[in-house]
Amino acid sequence: MILYEKPFRLELLGRTLIKDGEEWPFTARKVSELKEVMMEPHLMGPDGIAYYMFRGVHQWENLRYDITLIEPRFYGDEYAKTLGHYHPPSKASQAYPEVYQVLKGKASFVLQRKHKDESVDCIMVEANEKESFIVPPGYGHVSYNTGDSPLVLANIVAGFDSRYDEYLENHGPAFFCTRFGYKQNTYYIIKGQEKLSPRQINKRYGVILGDLLGMFYNKPQKFDFLSDPTKLTPVL
Ligand SMILES: [Fe+2]
Repeated sequence: MILYEKPFRLELLGRTLIKDGEEWPFTARKVSELKEVMMEPHLMGPDGIAYYMFRGVHQWENLRYDITLIEPRFYGDEYAKTLGHYHPPSKASQAYPEVYQVLKGKASFVLQRKHKDESVDCIMVEANEKESFIVPPGYGHVSYNTGDSPLVLANIVAGFDSRYDEYLENHGPAFFCTRFGYKQNTYYIIKGQEKLSPRQINKRYGVILGDLLGMFYNKPQKFDFLSDPTKLTPVL
């Protein structure tokens, strides 16, 4: 599957990512590593690779463009997903934001922000091929493959170490995405929940996103806000 011809050739051959003729290295997350964050860990099913992460396929300053491939499957009634993480605070104290694009397949994202009293606000974003959106500062996130084929995602993010502990301690995100809809994770107290389209969440944070690779390759400065969230102008 050819993802891009320009600005460089990016191709997926099965689970191998090839950039301009060269195999790109990856790290993989196994199904058994996700057990702690599953809605129904006893229905985990056979072990194997749950998803592949190809990091730094393109880079500019401290920002990198990554690709993730999530296999289609179910864990009980829950769709295949990533482990979930929060981002650390940037120099400007707000946590780093991130941008995502669905390159192939169908996805749901569960974003959540923790209040001082430990309750959380959640935003569900459902995205189809080519759509891109912002994960705002302060929001942890989980990506779900809600389609029946491999989900290929792109993201651009600043270099930092992600924080997984909240997700592991609470056994997953605040809402699980299942074949029967979203199910609340009872380890959380939910303060707010809403469903936004990629367009709505981008509008709220004052960002206009098109194809991420083209934008990032040609005008990387447009992603300055990923290193310095004070450059975002939320319309709240
Ligand atoms: Fe992230």
